[in-house]
Amino acid sequence: MNTEFQALILAAGKGTRMKSDRAKVLHEVAGLPMIGHVIDSALNAGASRAVVILGHQKETVETWLQLRYGDKVVVVDQTEQLGTGHAVWSATPALENGPARTLILSGDVPNLRPQTLKLFIEISGVHKFSMITAKLDDPSSYGRVVRNEDGFVEKIVEFKDASELEREIPEINAGCYLAESSFLNAELARLCSSPPTNAAGEYYLTDLIAVAAQKGDVFGWPIPNVSEIQGVNTRVDLAEAESFAREQINHAWMLEGVTFIDPNNTFIDAGVRLSSDVILHPGVIIRGSSQVGPETVIESGSVLQDAELGAHVHIKPYCVITSSTVGDGSAIGPFAHLRPESTLGKNCRVGNFVETKKTSFGDGAKASHLTYLGDATVGAKANVGAGTITCNYDGKNKNQTTIGAGAFVGSNTALVAPVTIGEGAYVGAGSVITNDVPDGALGVARGRQQNIENWARRRRGGD
Ligand code: UD1
Ligand code: MG
Repeated sequence: MNTEFQALILAAGKGTRMKSDRAKVLHEVAGLPMIGHVIDSALNAGASRAVVILGHQKETVETWLQLRYGDKVVVVDQTEQLGTGHAVWSATPALENGPARTLILSGDVPNLRPQTLKLFIEISGVHKFSMITAKLDDPSSYGRVVRNEDGFVEKIVEFKDASELEREIPEINAGCYLAESSFLNAELARLCSSPPTNAAGEYYLTDLIAVAAQKGDVFGWPIPNVSEIQGVNTRVDLAEAESFAREQINHAWMLEGVTFIDPNNTFIDAGVRLSSDVILHPGVIIRGSSQVGPETVIESGSVLQDAELGAHVHIKPYCVITSSTVGDGSAIGPFAHLRPESTLGKNCRVGNFVETKKTSFGDGAKASHLTYLGDATVGAKANVGAGTITCNYDGKNKNQTTIGAGAFVGSNTALVAPVTIGEGAYVGAGSVITNDVPDGALGVARGRQQNIENWARRRRGGD
């Protein structure tokens, strides 16, 4: 049997109940737009390509899709949203040249896992139409699965059209199907050729199930974990989807050898990569495409965005690290801020209330307290004293500061850029350095101290 299939993702709807200016499918779950989760799952389950049906805010969604997937994703326009049947019908020209089977998914059901889709496809076999169902305690307004006495699916009744008795049915249609592409082509053309007669006045994709059932060719698979089919229509659903996604992500990383001291209070985006023996304390947030090397410890309240940490790194509490790299064995914080394009080598130390931006540290370099380093290069093993400030901005331009390897910058120094402190050079504490300090020299630039004997006694009015 040819096992190839394509994915078709329905995402043209408006999402009115989100009460948002943003397209519904671009709302994020675990840091990734919902539609990204759906496409990733389909591709990871083995879909040869993904066709996405767009309507509302088509341009914004299409731009995002292009950026992430390039030509792996084909976009189809549904200018008027006349129902799920009409949506799939709008895509039939695009589906025709594709594989014989089509997996149909909704762009607003973000938590269907690739393993689950694989299993569904595997056990679906060769039916014209297979669907995922779920038995729910509260089936609310989902379409109900009507089965005959022998247990075979007969049809789907939409909630709006269902009788009181049908509304009692706990098994619902999850909106995820595997269908023969040729069956879709033929039957949707028929369905959409005359006006709909149902309560919503829409062309229902679900009407095709009764058609396939008459040919004895429908398969309904109750999903083991019903949380996976949770659709997102409101912000309440979005929060539930987020919480389920978080549980899944954290659980998977724990099985890969990551310690979560409080998994309910640790937030890891879908695109993050962790290594074994990483330890995450409560309240840690790791976003975007961040990567964390083995045996690294991240303490409470630290927030990483697109950060890359090496092995044996120690991030102490309440650090913010954005688009920056930290080398093996380095220690950061507490309360440190690495702003974009900070690159620390191995065994570096960035202490409390230190802010860096576009700054690189050679191996073993240190800035332990109260410092701002912007547009700077700090050589290996250099020591930047407490209260050092690079004055990198002159009101017009950002200028560069270079601190040579092994240099020692005394406390409370202002380095007025552009300026270079040579290798192994010293800067006296409290200096305002405006000229380069040569290699091995001492630069001092401050008022000389003057002591006035007996000044205090005279002030008090003594003799
Ligand atoms: C649909 C099913 C219902 C099922 C439920 C599961 C139908 C008729 N009903 O109902 O049986 O229980 O999903 O979540 O299919 N869309 C388009 N174009 C349209 C209409 C919808 O692209 O013209 C997209 C939406 O953006 C959404 C998806 O199709 O991603 C589902 O549409 P929605 O209106 O949410 O259908 P439900 O009422 O949830
Ligand atoms: Mg829906």
